[in-house]
Amino acid sequence: MTLELASSRETAPTSRAHSPLAVRGMTVSYGQKPAVFSVDMTVEPGKMTAIIGPNGAGKSTLLKAALGILTPLAGTATVYGKPVAEQRHRIAYVPQRASVDWDFPTRVIDVVLMGLYPQLGLLGRIRPVHRARATDCLARVGMEDFATRQIGQLSGGQQQRVFLARALAQDADLYLLDEPFAGVDAATEKAIIAVLKSLRDAGKTVVAVHHDLSTVAEYFDNVFLINTHRVAEGSVEDVFQAHHLQDAYGGRLAGAQMDALQLS
Ligand SMILES: Nc1ncnc2c1ncn2[C@@H]1O[C@H](COP(=O)(O)OP(=O)(O)O)[C@@H](O)[C@H]1O
Ligand SMILES: [Mg+2]
Repeated sequence: MTLELASSRETAPTSRAHSPLAVRGMTVSYGQKPAVFSVDMTVEPGKMTAIIGPNGAGKSTLLKAALGILTPLAGTATVYGKPVAEQRHRIAYVPQRASVDWDFPTRVIDVVLMGLYPQLGLLGRIRPVHRARATDCLARVGMEDFATRQIGQLSGGQQQRVFLARALAQDADLYLLDEPFAGVDAATEKAIIAVLKSLRDAGKTVVAVHHDLSTVAEYFDNVFLINTHRVAEGSVEDVFQAHHLQDAYGGRLAGAQMDALQLS
């Protein structure tokens, strides 16, 4: 007990047991070269954290390995101090949109109802209360008028809103989103960020892979910066320093972009 207290004091302020998602020593490889190498991450509860890094930095791989979708070479992940397999009901994951097969004929309302499956009980019967809840989640993302449309007929932004509605229906504690703003219009981006902030304000934890450095400070509380290795982790203020960004992006971050971020 004493030992545990001592060690938690000298490491991150959020202990592994209290972290919505804690990753230790995670190494993942698709071939010879690791895509993610020996990464530690401790997500702070009740915050919005951006996972940032250049293309191919291992952001998607890290999320998938943390969720057990990919098997790592080494490393562990816990969700609120317990193995991920025991905590699935507390996690909502929105994968990168490009990775989903949209040719499958499914109506919007059915996609959202999928988020309710774990709550349907033994008989798994969809009742009016479930439809009402799914419709309410669609309304929260501004898609209530599209309930009976085929998902494949929607624009990229509309599909992303539906995916978010499904995550909302899950009523999770931890929301993990992989590039939720990729390929969406500006109005959808604003709508999604408003929903994510309302989740955070209700005490939920949100982690999103994010691409656009210029909106990180406006959208997020914390940043996890990765380029195969963990480069930095902490508040936006602490992580958004020129030397950290240079470490992660190297020459790929042009001077003009650095200037736009108004770094010291
Ligand atoms: N299924 C896969 N098979 C082989 N290599 C992959 C696969 N998925 C990703 N990679 C490689 O792993 C590295 C990290 O990919 P990824 O996690 O998708 O990066 P990011 O999400 O940061 O863009 C990249 O070099 C990518 O080419
Ligand atoms: Mg990715």
